[in-house]
Amino acid sequence: MRAERPRLPVDALLPAVCESLRQAPNLVIEAPPGAGKTTRVPPALLDRIGGEILVLEPRRLAARLAARRVAGELGEAVGATAGYRVRFDEATGPGTRITFMTEGMLTRRLLSDRSLAAWTWWCSTNSTSATWRATLRWRCCGDCRGPHGPNCA
Ligand SMILES: Nc1ncnc2c1ncn2[C@@H]1O[C@H](COP(=O)(O)OP(=O)(O)OP(=O)(O)O)[C@@H](O)[C@H]1O
Ligand SMILES: [Mg+2]
Repeated sequence: MRAERPRLPVDALLPAVCESLRQAPNLVIEAPPGAGKTTRVPPALLDRIGGEILVLEPRRLAARLAARRVAGELGEAVGATAGYRVRFDEATGPGTRITFMTEGMLTRRLLSDRSLAAWTWWCSTNSTSATWRATLRWRCCGDCRGPHGPNCA
C-alpha cells in the first residue's frame, strides 16, 4: 500500500507534465529545490505512461537517498519498483522500473552499451550541467533518441 505523501508543488503539474511527454518526448522542468522534481516525476511517468525510467543523480549519496525516498513513498522496499545503481553498491531487482544512477555509472555503461535501450525515459538534474559528463550525457541522449533509445525529462 502506498504511504501517505506530503503535497509538493510539482504534484499539481504532474498530469500536464505526463501529457506533454506523451505528445513530445522531451521536457525541461524548472522548479525550486525541494519542489518534487526528482521524487514525484518518475513515479508519475511510470503510473501514467509506463516504461523503464533512469534517473541520473550527480552523487552516490543522492542516488541512494532518492531511491529510498521514492521506494518509501510507494510503500515498498528499495530495490522493488524503485532502486539504485552506484559504484560498489546496487539495490535493484527484476521488478525495478525506476533506477537512480550516478553519472559515473552511466558513463561506464556507455562504454559497453551505446544504445541505452534498457530505458524508455531518462530524467536528469541540471545541477551538474557544466560538467563534461553532462555534455556527454545530453549528446548521447540526442544520439540514442528514437524507437529504441530513451526519451528525456
Ligand atoms: N531522502 C529524503 N528524506 C526526507 N525527505 C526527503 C528526502 N528526499 C526528498 N524529501 C522531501 O521531498 C521533497 C521533494 O524532494 P525532491 O528531491 O523530489 O525535490 P527536487 O525538486 O528534486 O529538488 P532539487 O531541485 O533540490 O533536486 C523535499 O522537499 C523533501 O521535503
Ligand atoms: Mg532533484
